[in-house]
Amino acid sequence: MPGRLLIGVVLWVIVPFKRAEPSDYPPWFPAVEIEDYECRRAFKDQPVVNWPLLRQRLGDLVKLVLDDRSLLVKQDVAALQHQTLQLELLEVAAVVLWQFPHALNECPYGAVTASVFATCMAYLDRSELSASPLQAPYVTLLEHLRRESLAELLSRDLSVLLDLAPLHVTAATEWHTFALLHMYLPKIRPHHMQEVPNDRVMCVGTSVAGYTSERMLDMIRRHTPYASGRDIEGLKFLRGLDGLVSATMKDPREFSTTYVPACPCGAAAFGVSAAMLALMSNPSLFERFSNMAHGIMRAYTLEVLKGATVWGVFHGLAKMGMFALRSYDLVWSSRELCELPAEPSAFDSLRMDADLRLKHLSANAERHPHSVTRLVTSFLEQVKAVREDPEVMVYVTAVGGLPFANYITGFIRRALVVGLPALIMACMDQDAVAKCKQAVASVQRDVRGDLSEEKTILCVPAVEGHVIYIKHAFLPMLLSAAVDTVWIDFDTFILQEPSAALRSTRDSPGRVLPLRSRVRFGSFLFDNTTDLCALSKICDPRQYWTYNVTSTTAETATDHKGVELLVTEHWDARCLNNGLFYARATYRTLIFFTLFLKQIYVNPYTDNQNLFDAFLAHSTVDSAVPDARPILNYALLDIENSFGCAEGHVNTAVPGHPDGLTTFHFWASDFRTREAAGDENSTAARIVARNGVERVAKIRAGKDDLFEIFFGPAAQAAYEDGVPAAGAAFIQQVRAPKPNWKGMCAVTAVGVEELVDERMLQGEQTLIDWQAATHVTARAEPQEPEPVTASGCDRGPRCMDIPLEEWTSALQSVGELSLGKFLEEGEVSQLKARLRSLDVGVLLTARAFSSRGLQTLAKELREVLRHPPTFT
Ligand SMILES: *[C@@H]1O[C@H](CO)[C@@H](O)[C@H](O)[C@H]1NC(C)=O
Ligand SMILES: *[C@@H]1O[C@H](CO)[C@@H](O)[C@H](O)[C@H]1NC(C)=O
Ligand SMILES: *[C@@H]1O[C@H](CO)[C@@H](O)[C@H](O)[C@H]1NC(C)=O
Repeated sequence: MPGRLLIGVVLWVIVPFKRAEPSDYPPWFPAVEIEDYECRRAFKDQPVVNWPLLRQRLGDLVKLVLDDRSLLVKQDVAALQHQTLQLELLEVAAVVLWQFPHALNECPYGAVTASVFATCMAYLDRSELSASPLQAPYVTLLEHLRRESLAELLSRDLSVLLDLAPLHVTAATEWHTFALLHMYLPKIRPHHMQEVPNDRVMCVGTSVAGYTSERMLDMIRRHTPYASGRDIEGLKFLRGLDGLVSATMKDPREFSTTYVPACPCGAAAFGVSAAMLALMSNPSLFERFSNMAHGIMRAYTLEVLKGATVWGVFHGLAKMGMFALRSYDLVWSSRELCELPAEPSAFDSLRMDADLRLKHLSANAERHPHSVTRLVTSFLEQVKAVREDPEVMVYVTAVGGLPFANYITGFIRRALVVGLPALIMACMDQDAVAKCKQAVASVQRDVRGDLSEEKTILCVPAVEGHVIYIKHAFLPMLLSAAVDTVWIDFDTFILQEPSAALRSTRDSPGRVLPLRSRVRFGSFLFDNTTDLCALSKICDPRQYWTYNVTSTTAETATDHKGVELLVTEHWDARCLNNGLFYARATYRTLIFFTLFLKQIYVNPYTDNQNLFDAFLAHSTVDSAVPDARPILNYALLDIENSFGCAEGHVNTAVPGHPDGLTTFHFWASDFRTREAAGDENSTAARIVARNGVERVAKIRAGKDDLFEIFFGPAAQAAYEDGVPAAGAAFIQQVRAPKPNWKGMCAVTAVGVEELVDERMLQGEQTLIDWQAATHVTARAEPQEPEPVTASGCDRGPRCMDIPLEEWTSALQSVGELSLGKFLEEGEVSQLKARLRSLDVGVLLTARAFSSRGLQTLAKELREVLRHPPTFT
């Protein structure tokens, strides 16, 4: 065994890991593939090790050792459990190293991470690895590894990682490679790594933008534990490093020409911090900063490794991974698409001619290798409207989980009553599949009263992957079937068959977008300077610049015939809400949505809705948008009169009347108030927000309640006569004056501030003093992050009303309820999450009932949970 081990270890440098696949796509189609980073796919042969299990156990180890928010090493790690897990992992890692070339080819991330782990074990103090003696083969393995220096071994692994994918991709995988390095490197005795004097590692004597390296090091180390895209502590990071990053990046030349060579490790740590900061404040810069850190690490791998512990580089990278919004849990291939003709024009003509399209569908239904593609095409081929009407629109939605699956019957019944030509329901779990199939069988007979063979509803199992992927993984395939596709979120009530309204907007659009010549401020795009000045009050020409929407994808004159996409904006903001959109089946939309799927996959840090907006060049720019993509011609749907949502609309017609709304999306923002119209005679109290705008309480309902009143059994009984009464009443109640002002969309912490301020205002609380609340005290050696009880706050008069300790004590009472089994585990974790995000409703309840006995407290808190979070 040791002999073969040797071969494994020696060989692995020269193994190629990218497999070239033969291409059978026409030249016009960019055959993007989705990398299976997590090795989730089914392996043809017996894999080297059980990769998903290895990934999971590595995750368990990280969870055991690191605090789940700060990612600092916990004080009280259970030693026995820790060592047992290490031994278990070492056994698997040994198998990987033993067959390294093969393993690397099969699962590159898994193989490299196993190698990193084994290397750390080799250099770890033996007593920390295991209390009991190791078996001989493992001793040999570790001895063998120690023949090379730690720096050599790790720099090789790191180089492979840097070759595999961008830094932010590696950080977001569930292999936790960076977290492992962060955990183990400080435990390995320094002489193995740092042959260089400490001053050199700390870059004493160097500086950038007026910050000395020592100061920068202190700032980065002090604030990294707080970096977060999810909870309020992230603001500490944002506030703490904003000045440093802005000053340095205002003119990055000094940084790149002088600082990077002088202090590569500091520069890498800075790059990682800047990338996280960008995610919180200006996502359009994220990939640029992350790639900058990547470039530095690639050029100075060894130096970065040597200073990594001092600078906390891997801590930062592990934290960056926590900003990811999705996992890499999509298994998809462009091979799922229907066969594509050699010429793009030939593809476009498929949808213009029902006979041609039918042939296309039949061919794929018969012999496409992918079963879901066969299922969908054979469904489409038997839909009468698809056979006869080239302009037919096929509707797609996705559903899964409770309580939603309980409303599948309602949704399907509604679709049949209004007469959707075809509906494909992607079911995200087995329960949803079963409920969907059952509903189709019973409802179709009920509603249509006929026994014709035609099916207009298809239930498709889509049980793998995040809902965002499911949504976008279906579109390319449907478009490749040459049918126009309408995505409709499941939380939407259809009042009237929308196809006619969609078609009329498409064929006589108010404006065809995007405007190519724009004005840009930060990551936001405006129509012109008047528009910018009116909307944002930024009227100083030094703050914005002109911007042309461009693409490196060639465009032909025929690409500009008409609207290819219909989308909706938010009610009171400019960015797009992609709960409903129409895509015409052209070669350009097919390419667009394929590239889009690839991008939301490789950049799980971006919100899919914002990325969609940026892909279309609607209201934002984002560095995650590829330069090569078709710029689609799109138009906005009328959200005021036709495609309404719970946030507001202006349609006064009786719901169900032909002049009334077409669809009603249950979506409403988390804000509890809306802007008050100047001439509104509202009796409701008004509040004045930070920016001076008056707001009034808005009509709200929980999503669950809306599902019941629109899709529940009582509602269904009323479908034949029109819109259920309670639903119609709600639709009329949420009518609101048109907002005077449509803001830009913020997913940043600044948005968080406003949201929390609004909450405080309603409770007659004073504003949070963010300056004080986000203060991080200086200290030499950062350890555990401070609890939210910011010390500056209890002295400041503005924080007197909710001392932050209140949040902590509310968390403790919730914890007690869980110990006493007064609440279910799920309820407890929901309550805690809501407290952590400063949900005042939960806090007030916890305070008010804390002295009334645990039973009562539990009951009241459960009541709070029935309402949506006041802040997410
Ligand atoms: C500027 O943009 C606004 C908003 O789109 C538009 O109404 C206005 O006509 C534009 N002005 C000019 C001079 O183009
Ligand atoms: C945008 O395009 C216009 C007209 O094609 C051109 O005059 C202008 O210089 C361009 N602006 C930028 C920033 O490229
Ligand atoms: C407000 O009340 C006045 C007088 O009662 C009325 O004339 C006006 O139309 C009302 N405005 C709105 C927006 O309801």
